[in-house]
Amino acid sequence: MAKSKSAFFCQSCGYEAPKWLGKCPSCNEWNTFVEERVLISKNNPQPFARQKSDHIPILLQDIKQTDTTRITLKDVELNRVLGGGLVKGEIILIGGDPGIGKSTLLLQMAIKEHLSVLYVSGEESEQQIKMRAQRIGIENPKCQLLIETDVGQIIKHGEKSHPDVMIIDSIQTLFTSHVESAPGSVSQVRESTAMLLRFAKEMEIPVFLIGHITKEGTIAGPKVLEHMVDAVLQFEGDRNHFYRLLRSVKNRFGSTNELGIYEMQGNGLRMVENPSEILISNTDGTLSGSCIATTIEGLRPLQVEVQALVSTAAYGTPQRSSNGYDAKRLNMLLAVLEKRCAFRLASKDVFLNIAGGIKVDDPAVDLAVIIAVLSSNAELAVSRSYTFAAEVGLSGEIRPVNRIETRISEAQKLGYTHIFISSYNKGLKPKDYQIEVIQAKKIEDIVKFVFG
Ligand code: TYD
Ligand code: MG
Repeated sequence: MAKSKSAFFCQSCGYEAPKWLGKCPSCNEWNTFVEERVLISKNNPQPFARQKSDHIPILLQDIKQTDTTRITLKDVELNRVLGGGLVKGEIILIGGDPGIGKSTLLLQMAIKEHLSVLYVSGEESEQQIKMRAQRIGIENPKCQLLIETDVGQIIKHGEKSHPDVMIIDSIQTLFTSHVESAPGSVSQVRESTAMLLRFAKEMEIPVFLIGHITKEGTIAGPKVLEHMVDAVLQFEGDRNHFYRLLRSVKNRFGSTNELGIYEMQGNGLRMVENPSEILISNTDGTLSGSCIATTIEGLRPLQVEVQALVSTAAYGTPQRSSNGYDAKRLNMLLAVLEKRCAFRLASKDVFLNIAGGIKVDDPAVDLAVIIAVLSSNAELAVSRSYTFAAEVGLSGEIRPVNRIETRISEAQKLGYTHIFISSYNKGLKPKDYQIEVIQAKKIEDIVKFVFG
């Protein structure tokens, strides 16, 4: 017999408590508890319980590995971010801000790949989806569409049509009658995901879940989802810009920190093969306050443009603001310049921007930030054929960064003439490269070279 109880759930992390709490003991957020009614029925299996329990322990070395478990996708960016294709029975969560293009990305996959796909939408009507699909161009005759929000029904249809891939848009619109609370609440989202997880594993069908992001930046409230699924991908980018980054945050079947880059066009998302081209603005090289850094996102080297504006502060306290780069780190680098290199910046406003609206947290950008600030301060342009890749320490020393060979090769491939790195990179043979590799120990050495 079904029994109903109510419990309180933290909407931020999914913590469950029998009574209301002001502060969540798990994530320390305040005022996040909401009462939800939970219906517990006897025949509702536990999320991770297997229906067949005939498994016995076996030796790891006796398990045969099959190669056929990966489904390679035509979308090379998605393929790479997933770690080399889809794994059967894997469940993937794609998160991102509203309007960023999550539905477009997965619909595009559904209608371009030659796989049988079941696209389930709880957000849009058939007409809306058809219109969008026509805009992108339908190439797949085996794409089915289902407008449904009841998980039980979705699974029933999934079992019947047994597609190669199933897509759910979005997990927050789903509900199951096992749980009484509203769609989108922690217990609904968690139970719906658990049911789809069971479906994916039992039917060996990869399932994509689209999840909305809350304003705090986590995938809508339930962080619990991230623990349940096999892979979490983040779709991000500035909505004012045309390109999008697909990042792997968690992946049980591949490396995390992989990056896929797309450009949003009138007819869908285009894969960007040479990302450095779009991240660097086309100027003739006579503008001061900007220079290029060679960073690495995941396994992928990227050239990004760092722009700085240094001007005399109009009021007492100078402003420091940063876009796409850690503001605290900017302050630290400014203090290093002030104290170790005797550049007077204390009475100046400093604004920093990473062009193209992307965020970088690679320490190798430090040197480019310093050079951009000095370039703007002195109003001297930096050559567009120079690129920088080094961390800057608190005493003004130029520190080595990881995977320097990859960075140098990329800079060389893109036609830069000079790359500035630390002298402390071990085992590097600068003579092996056609590009001029300038190694330095202190900021002054580089300043002399760049600004003469
Ligand atoms: P959408 O994919 O619905 O975003 P999400 O599912 O993440 O909320 O919408 C993406 C936006 O992209 C929408 O504002 C319209 C735009 N767009 C294009 O520019 N080109 C296209 O081909 C499509 C389909 C959408
Ligand atoms: Mg959508």
